Amino acid sequence: MRNVIILGAQWGDEGKGKIVDLFSERFDIVARYQGGHNAGHTVVVGDKKFVLKLIPSGILHAGKKAVIGNGLVIDPAALMAEIDALESAGVEVRGNLFISNRAHVLFPAHRMMEKLSASIGTTSRGIGPCYEDKTGRRGVRIADLLNPEVFRAQYDSVMEEKVAIARALGIYQELDLRRIRDEYEMFAARIRPMVRDTAILLNQAIRDGKAVLFEGAQGTMLDIDHGTYPFVTSSSASAGGACTGTGVPPTRISGVIGVSKAYITRVGGGPFPTEALDGAGEMIRKRGNEFGAVTGRPRRCGWFDVPLVRYTAAINGFDSLVVTKLDVLDEFDSIPVCTGYRLGRQEAAEMPPTVAEIEKVEPVYECVPGWRASTFGVSSYDDLPEKAKDYLAFLESRTGVEVGCISTGPERNQTIVRPGSRLEKLVA
Ligand code: GDP
Ligand code: IMO
Ligand code: MG
Repeated sequence: MRNVIILGAQWGDEGKGKIVDLFSERFDIVARYQGGHNAGHTVVVGDKKFVLKLIPSGILHAGKKAVIGNGLVIDPAALMAEIDALESAGVEVRGNLFISNRAHVLFPAHRMMEKLSASIGTTSRGIGPCYEDKTGRRGVRIADLLNPEVFRAQYDSVMEEKVAIARALGIYQELDLRRIRDEYEMFAARIRPMVRDTAILLNQAIRDGKAVLFEGAQGTMLDIDHGTYPFVTSSSASAGGACTGTGVPPTRISGVIGVSKAYITRVGGGPFPTEALDGAGEMIRKRGNEFGAVTGRPRRCGWFDVPLVRYTAAINGFDSLVVTKLDVLDEFDSIPVCTGYRLGRQEAAEMPPTVAEIEKVEPVYECVPGWRASTFGVSSYDDLPEKAKDYLAFLESRTGVEVGCISTGPERNQTIVRPGSRLEKLVA
């Protein structure tokens, strides 16, 4: 049995797409378990760049199966656009992609409702309101979309309610509800051949000895339960979400791999203790090209936060950590790493629960010497500068998690898997 979860250890954009794509070669199926087209997972293959939003990164490997699990919210227009773009780039999607009949359907009215929560800096894709309908038990699921009678009745009643609320709150915008309903019925016809009970499909595949890679979207600090609430997304990005979001039980999971940058970024609002608001932050943004893959917003940049990763390691039970974008730090003389928090006179070993407290936290930094040499594209651990190895060893010792893999560039071969690591065994 070899079923592994790969997910973000920070606030998203850690480079999950690249890592999932790379390792999916060694698995039979790649399954996404939460989120929607708020995710932007960049994969570079030769001179082609793909930004995957709803479709798991494994799709780029010929013959691999990809699953969109029940934990996702699907905007059918976004899904169709993504399928068309991939197919026109020569990727075979139909025949390899399976969509859960229990995933939820996102409508344009969800984007309208998002005006009520946009102040936290959301991606404005309607994700939060769609999950609100899911937990409010009035959501429309893919299985409903495929049943014209059920769909019409549900759609009309949900939309009637949305329009009434939007009008009352002064956020109504003109929506041609009938035209949208017709469009969704057309989407249904296109989606139908790909829809399955993916929980059954995945469990059967596992019984047949197939290996499944679970792909997280967002990051643990954006998780609805464990993140910096309310500055979070509306789904379970952490490891537990892989089970609820696919229907594969915890007893079938053999390992969890966290992906973290060699520094840290965040898009949107919310507390960020190690944010570098000086020239160093700007230098990271420039060297790391830190601009959102979905919204194009500049990402906020800062220093590696050990208490944060210790926290996400605890929540997810990381067996190993992938440290990405090491090359972005190549030119720093010295690299601050936050190894603890101070809250007033007290040391705070853990991430506090409230935004008010996190905002007051003072990071305690230790400075690690920079290596001032290019690591870009290095693919063997031995070829890394000694000081870069020391930096990685420092992260390893402070977080308590092995660094099993290092990424030194966007491409597949710009990666180091450390021989003898737990990660090497998990993805073998
Ligand atoms: P994801 O959402 O976690 O998949 O990450 P994104 O795709 O949003 O952002 C990561 C960005 O960094 C993408 O543009 C990747 O191509 C790029 N990237 C990934 N790994 C590396 C690396 O090791 N070095 C550099 N320079 N870029 C990387
Ligand atoms: P990937 O999978 C980074 C952030 C938004 C906002 C908050 C809530 O590429 O790592 P939402 O639209 O989800 O309700 O917005 O979450 N956010 C992300 N930040 N990477 C992502 O995805 C994100 N998906 C959502 O910026 O702060
Ligand atoms: Mg991203």
